[in-house]
Amino acid sequence: MRRPPDTVRQGPPPPPPPFTFRRMQPDDLDRVMEIEKDGFAHPWSADLIRRELAHDWATILLATERRGHGGQQAEVVTGFVVYWLVHDELHILNIATAVEERRRGVARALMQETAARGRKAGAVLATLEVRRSNAGAIALYRSLGYRQVGIRPNYYADEGEDAIVMIADL
Ligand SMILES: CC(C)(COP(=O)(O)OP(=O)(O)OC[C@H]1O[C@@H](n2cnc3c(N)ncnc32)[C@H](O)[C@@H]1OP(=O)(O)O)[C@@H](O)C(=O)NCCC(=O)NCCS
Repeated sequence: MRRPPDTVRQGPPPPPPPFTFRRMQPDDLDRVMEIEKDGFAHPWSADLIRRELAHDWATILLATERRGHGGQQAEVVTGFVVYWLVHDELHILNIATAVEERRRGVARALMQETAARGRKAGAVLATLEVRRSNAGAIALYRSLGYRQVGIRPNYYADEGEDAIVMIADL
């Protein structure tokens, strides 16, 4: 006998959350700074973010979602990543997800989108530095194929913390 439909999984698993991505515009600065300040004890300044926006080799990519119904829909920026594309190398400088949006796959989706964009632009290697104590971020990067290749002692001047250098093939 067939089981009732509500206990049978029909077809493939449900799709992941509908993230979309776009480059940051100057108007997004307040939201990006809000996420940045909530994410880091020593956040980047608004000036530093503005400077990144002006560099040809830098991209600030936002993860966004549309929320609400019908005419009430609005875009919510859930996270961002800052990366540089120099020759055949992609360098991730900064990534953060809004506190209330964490553990929903936003950062993973941003990293995957960044890798795809890097590959398309000819990058073959991705690099990043991460604080030794940032277990969550390290777990994220490992799950995406990043491996530790070195340590930069006292890299973060504020607390004298070491950076772990990680790379991944694209
Ligand atoms: C690190 C950070 C960007 C992760 O963002 P996120 O959107 O919550 O991450 P995701 O939901 O995409 O997580 C993907 C995977 O990464 C790992 N991960 C993410 N956050 C984690 C945490 N706090 N502890 C352990 N593992 C974590 C898990 O493997 C997770 O998969 P799972 O949820 O299926 O277990 C976010 O916590 C953040 O903004 N932190 C402050 C800023 C920061 O530290 N940035 C990194 C600088 S190098």
